[in-house]
Amino acid sequence: MTKHFIPLDRAVSFVDPPDHARVRSVVAPYFTQRGIDRHRIRAHQLMEERCRELEAVGAPADLVRHVISPFALGMISEVMGIPAGDQPQIRAWAQTILTRASDDAQALRAEEAKQAARAYFSSLAAQRRAEPREDVMSALVAAVDAGRIDEEELLALATLMGLNGWHAVCNNVTNMMFVLLTQPQLRDWLHRHPGQILPAVDELLRWIPHKHGVGQPRVATEDVEVGGVLIREGEFVYVSYVAANWDERVYPDPGRIDFERKGLPHVAFGFGPHACVGPLLARMEAEILVNTLTGRFPTMRLAVPSENVAWQTDVLIRGPVDLPVTWSPSR
Ligand code: HEM
Repeated sequence: MTKHFIPLDRAVSFVDPPDHARVRSVVAPYFTQRGIDRHRIRAHQLMEERCRELEAVGAPADLVRHVISPFALGMISEVMGIPAGDQPQIRAWAQTILTRASDDAQALRAEEAKQAARAYFSSLAAQRRAEPREDVMSALVAAVDAGRIDEEELLALATLMGLNGWHAVCNNVTNMMFVLLTQPQLRDWLHRHPGQILPAVDELLRWIPHKHGVGQPRVATEDVEVGGVLIREGEFVYVSYVAANWDERVYPDPGRIDFERKGLPHVAFGFGPHACVGPLLARMEAEILVNTLTGRFPTMRLAVPSENVAWQTDVLIRGPVDLPVTWSPSR
């Protein structure tokens, strides 16, 4: 997918069973429905702060800068235990590392950012070792101390979750808002069905082609037949969840967004042992962002023609650079 490698070498994405489950099991309890629900009240508080800032700035304003990006960063930081003052630095590292390096100078900058993020999480781990809290960083430290994982596994997982947890939600929800702002019939549907936000979020996750690349290759460890195709030991397989989500044998008329679609779940979060760690967190964030923005700013619309919205071209997950919006004050 890229000439220069994106995640840290020991990241969970590259680990096979049984080590893979050993590492993931440390953080899994924090991403269950119960684990995520603990953050719901704080999520609403953060969203309220973001809406107030948007209102204070006034129309037109950039929805990514004032609402979606800081909210997504605030939420993953809340779960991980990253202090507010460190969050801008996390975002800067994520943007550098998750942007495809097109030359050696950029690759070097990304490598430096990876090392800086690694050092940062190492020092945060030391703080949590001295003073544990109810957060993922403290759980990772406790697992190192109990001999369940080693320090390198802690650093690779913390970096992956801290950086991707912002990047993925920020870009996916910005995509969702772009879709809703350019297809008013979908917003009308949401207003008419206020209790149906989660199925709507899932249909948007299915429909949005979120990745620039097809993802990480899998390597067959033995001959295996999948869907009538023989894959020989050592061969590479690129699994495109984006293509799978538009498979017309599974989702009739896949290019149409249908909030009443019934049937098989989508695979935007992957499938199998390596499926995403954070779907419930991502869904809760998307639900609160979309629900609050469409409910509180019913007249919100793009402040520029949709074709003038600029898209990031070199990042891992697609998304607009910014989303200039305007609205009429409603209260
Ligand atoms: C809408 C937002 C998100 C989407 C669409 C998304 C999607 C994905 C996908 C497609 C994968 C790869 C699955 C595979 O290799 O088969 C993945 C992996 C992963 N995601 Fe997410 N993700 C999102 C948000 C998050 C968040 C908020 C976190 C924070 C914890 C997170 C943490 C991870 C981790 C740690 C992995 C690696 C899992 C493994 O290899 O075992 N993701 N995600």
